[in-house]
Amino acid sequence: MPRIVETIVTTQDVSGQVHIAPLGLIAEGDGWVIAPFKPSRTLDNLTANPFAVASHTGDVRVFAGCVTGRRDWPTVKADVVRGVRLADAVSHWELAVESVQEDEQRPRFRCRLMHAATHKVWGGYNRAEAAVLELAVLTTRLAMLPPEKIDAELKYLEIAISKTAGPRELEAWEWLMEKVRAFRSGNTGAARKS
Ligand SMILES: Cc1cc2nc3c(=O)[nH]c(=O)nc-3n(C[C@H](O)[C@H](O)[C@H](O)COP(=O)(O)O)c2cc1C
Repeated sequence: MPRIVETIVTTQDVSGQVHIAPLGLIAEGDGWVIAPFKPSRTLDNLTANPFAVASHTGDVRVFAGCVTGRRDWPTVKADVVRGVRLADAVSHWELAVESVQEDEQRPRFRCRLMHAATHKVWGGYNRAEAAVLELAVLTTRLAMLPPEKIDAELKYLEIAISKTAGPRELEAWEWLMEKVRAFRSGNTGAARKS
C-alpha cells in the first residue's frame, strides 16, 4: 500500500473562493495524488484552478469541524502557489496539478510539490487525536457501512477518548457524535451539512 497522509486541503474556485476539506494524500514517486470523490467541491476546484495546499495540523477539531459543517478555520496566503494554508498549520505543502487520471467515481490529480514549509515543532498525535481522525472518516461513510460495524468502531474508539482526550478532542468528538446520532435517528437534516 502507498503511504497516505491525512491533511487539510485548501483549494480555490475561479473567483478565488476558498474551500477547505480533509483529504488523504497518496504518495506516488516524488509527488502526491489527491483523489476526491465525485461530486465534490475539491474536485470542481482542482479542475478549475489546478493548485492545492495541504496543511498538517495537530488540532483535530479542524478535521471533525470540516465534516460537520464547521469550515471557518483561519487561513493565510500560501507562499508560492495561488491559494491559502491553515494559519495554525504545523507545516504545509503547496501543490500544482501535473496530470489528471479520469475515473467515474474518484479521479486522481497527480500533483508536484512546489514548496514545503514548517511553522512550529510537531508535537505528535495521542490516541484520542487518532480516534477523532478515525471517527471523522467514519462519519463520511455512515450511509455505506452496516450499523453493527459503526457500533463496533465507536466502542473501540471510545476507549482512546476516555483515556486520553483533552478539551479539543472532546469538543471534536461531540461534533462527530452529534452527526452520528442525527444519522441514526434518520434526521440527517439536523446535522450540519459536511
Ligand atoms: C481524514 C479524512 C480523510 C478524507 N479523505 C478523503 C479523500 O481522500 N477523498 C475524498 O473524496 N474524501 C475524503 N474525505 C471526506 C471529505 O473530506 C468530505 O467528504 C468532503 O466534504 C469532500 O467533499 P467537498 O470537497 O465537497 O467538501 C476524508 C475525510 C476525512 C475526515
